Amino acid sequence: MTDALKQLSDRLGGIAYGGDYNPEQWPREVWDEDVRLMREAGVNLVTVGVFSWAFLEPRPGQYEFELLDEVLDLLHANGIAADLATATASPPPWFSLRHPEALPVTADGVRLTHGSRQTFCPSSPAYAEAAGRLAERLVERYRDHPALALWHLHNEWGNHNAHCYCDSSAKAFRDWLRERYGDLDGLNQAWGTAFWSQRYGDWAEVMPPRATAAVPNPTQQLDFWRFSSDALLRLHRREAEIVRRLSPGIPLTTNLLVTLEKKVDGFSFAGECDFVSVDQYLTAADPEAHVGLSLDADLARGMGGGAPWLLMEHSTSAVNWQPRNVAKTPGQMRRNSLAHVARGADGVLYFQWRQSRAGAEKWHSAMLPHGGTGTKTWREVTALGHDLKALAEVRGSRVESDVALLFDWNAWWALEMDATPSRDVRYLDLVRAWYEALWSLGITCDLVHPSSDLSGHRLVLVPSLSLTSDADASSLDAFVREGGHAAVGFFSGVVDENDHVRLGGHPGAYRDMLGVHVDEFFPLREAETVRLSDGSEATVWTELVEPRGAETIVSFDSDPSYGGPVAGHPAVTRNAHGAGVSWYVATRPDADALRGLLARVCRDAGVTAPAEVPAGVEAVRRRGPDGTYLFLINHTSGDVPVAARGVDLLTGTVADGRTVVRAGDVVVVREDGTPSSDR
Ligand code: GAL
Repeated sequence: MTDALKQLSDRLGGIAYGGDYNPEQWPREVWDEDVRLMREAGVNLVTVGVFSWAFLEPRPGQYEFELLDEVLDLLHANGIAADLATATASPPPWFSLRHPEALPVTADGVRLTHGSRQTFCPSSPAYAEAAGRLAERLVERYRDHPALALWHLHNEWGNHNAHCYCDSSAKAFRDWLRERYGDLDGLNQAWGTAFWSQRYGDWAEVMPPRATAAVPNPTQQLDFWRFSSDALLRLHRREAEIVRRLSPGIPLTTNLLVTLEKKVDGFSFAGECDFVSVDQYLTAADPEAHVGLSLDADLARGMGGGAPWLLMEHSTSAVNWQPRNVAKTPGQMRRNSLAHVARGADGVLYFQWRQSRAGAEKWHSAMLPHGGTGTKTWREVTALGHDLKALAEVRGSRVESDVALLFDWNAWWALEMDATPSRDVRYLDLVRAWYEALWSLGITCDLVHPSSDLSGHRLVLVPSLSLTSDADASSLDAFVREGGHAAVGFFSGVVDENDHVRLGGHPGAYRDMLGVHVDEFFPLREAETVRLSDGSEATVWTELVEPRGAETIVSFDSDPSYGGPVAGHPAVTRNAHGAGVSWYVATRPDADALRGLLARVCRDAGVTAPAEVPAGVEAVRRRGPDGTYLFLINHTSGDVPVAARGVDLLTGTVADGRTVVRAGDVVVVREDGTPSSDR
């Protein structure tokens, strides 16, 4: 994985910089200005053709490549490389008239119509055919074009059309289930169809979970989510096969959506790219949106096994698809972009190069805004181009982290099914709460899949993993027995891969490792709080924990009017297991308490931050063959001194033991004499 991105950035001579380029939206004379300004900004890579299908194949089977020929030639003449899309993300209107059966159908039976984008059923044979034909023609035509540096498969697989309930999907779902279970007995067993008279006697009776009268079968739903992600993965593989066959030597990737997309299992796609690329957008309503950014960036890195990755899209300022689209304040874009680089990105691209005049995204920011070059955004875009040039040597280096946080789309899906103990138990809420506690302690973590090799870490955090396989649970158990540390959140390990409850007491798969037995869950009412023995507060969840070897660290307050339904019982436990230690957190502590707890867990595990920084300052270290780079990003409104020795690559200033990171500023120190990692 690493090599393909290294090759690309070597070809570019540094960190990749650019954005989606959609020249078909503009008259020809604008293109010359585009490339001139791209050069001025230091742009070296643009994504072309993402939504060009209707131009490339204006009528079925009739391909017209003149426009793209000219665009690629122009880019090449100006020394700008192309990330060329397979253009399959938005079938033209003629496609839906020809193949009405390929339009997606909702769970309620409504068939959608073209007029936006990505309006096709992922299991439609007609779509697969047409997209495959287009991709083949494109790859054949451009595989030797000198501007071509990277293939961009589709665009954000499943962003708008991940779940389709039509008859083609029903058929493909049955095929997928046959493959998984072999026969109907296997399916009946896995889906627990003895319940509510759901037993299937014929494959024709098996359906996607279309609208039904009461709570749909949870395993049917879970399998449908798995199948739907796999249906998109099949399309991805089909395109990847075409590219690899016809254009070997040019790497391929696709822009994944990190936590922005619940329905698509990012890990499975990451494994089928030459390197990971992601799109990341701030949540405007979140005052700490830069923490969400870090989380997504750490997930992008985790998806690629720690290797550098490419930020394929983010925004220079406001987006247009949230309820209130907040613009970025001066300096915020720079902090955002460099925070991605700090966390392993070797490329910084935006949606999009030039802000559109028409269409659904005309109010979405871009590198070149409606106001042209006399704007705050343009000034920041050109300044960032210089910053990234100055960071060229950072590319290829890897982020240091002793902590892994387990992240799993399957667990996310299972946790948020209908009819669970509490609708307030939300996957991203729990992951974010734990992540944020760690972030505020200045500690870097990798978000990794539960099946990944954990041995490179000292501490593994499991904020929420209700569903876990036996194999993944054993691997965490072995990690702890061999001397690792782990901390596990409530309602984890409770069901197996089929969403069947693990019997004999909760938290099923982790019971022995944690040395506890949970007798019963006592979720709290909406907005109800309980007090813990250390004086802190907790919400959402309590449960009756009996220690079976574990030591109680914090309890629910012993007074039932404060301690809630399980007053006096353990809320946080610590268990010595083999040569390691495992912690259990049986509630949702408030932010301060969780930070205090994770600080203690980190100390216990010997995990430290890359630098001592106050709250609101990010410190992340990347290590390369020739040295280490300490990124310091100040999100606060005050100047902050940090102990560091080396040269700030962005200004050339020497930090002789101490550097001041100004309010809102970023410093990247190439460190002198960093002791080598003791891992
Ligand atoms: C992404 C998409 C882009 C653009 C962008 C706007 O989801 O790939 O084409 O729509 O969002 O934020």
